Amino acid sequence: RARVGVLISGRGSNMIALAEAAERPTCPYEIALVAANDPDAPGLARARMMGIETWGLSHAGMKRAAFDALIDAELRRAGAEYVALAGYMRLLSPEFVERWAGRMINIHPSLLPAYKGLDTHARAIAAGDAESGCSVHVVTAGLDDGPVFASARVPIKPGDTPDSLAARILVEEHRLYPQALAEFVTRVAPRS
Ligand code: GAR
Repeated sequence: RARVGVLISGRGSNMIALAEAAERPTCPYEIALVAANDPDAPGLARARMMGIETWGLSHAGMKRAAFDALIDAELRRAGAEYVALAGYMRLLSPEFVERWAGRMINIHPSLLPAYKGLDTHARAIAAGDAESGCSVHVVTAGLDDGPVFASARVPIKPGDTPDSLAARILVEEHRLYPQALAEFVTRVAPRS
């Protein structure tokens, strides 16, 4: 099975969705490592409870490229062939993006290219949009940029708050991301 390293920063609900899907024997990927830029990220504890290897370190005081080189070393040590970003809330260095070019995907809670960056739900509501959703895209050097290869739509309902919209979209994220990752590792050759 394809070996995937997952990067998180916080609660890790998308990472859990990926890991739960990987427990099925027909899943084409397995989770090699969950890494976080915060040793106390709640998602790390959840991953360990599922028997997944974890690595967590604060990036505070480190240059981005130096920190990302540590993550890269851990990913390679764990035998990762692909990277899935799952709520990793930090820009990656150009060197790291280059190392994993074409082998790294991200999930973002908007219908890209709309609403890159933060506060996607508040911005979609403020704009009066009728729908929003989530997108899985290949990671390139730009923030939340790169070719989109899977997305899911949800309606924005009258009275929605950023929280209510986020919750509706998160359900779709958990469904979409494992499917998209399975398709990605099936279609794209691993990094050697
Ligand atoms: C998810 O909604 C994910 O799409 C978003 O952060 C949340 C992480 O939740 N990612 C981004 O905004 C990336 N730009 P999780 O830690 O529970 O998966």
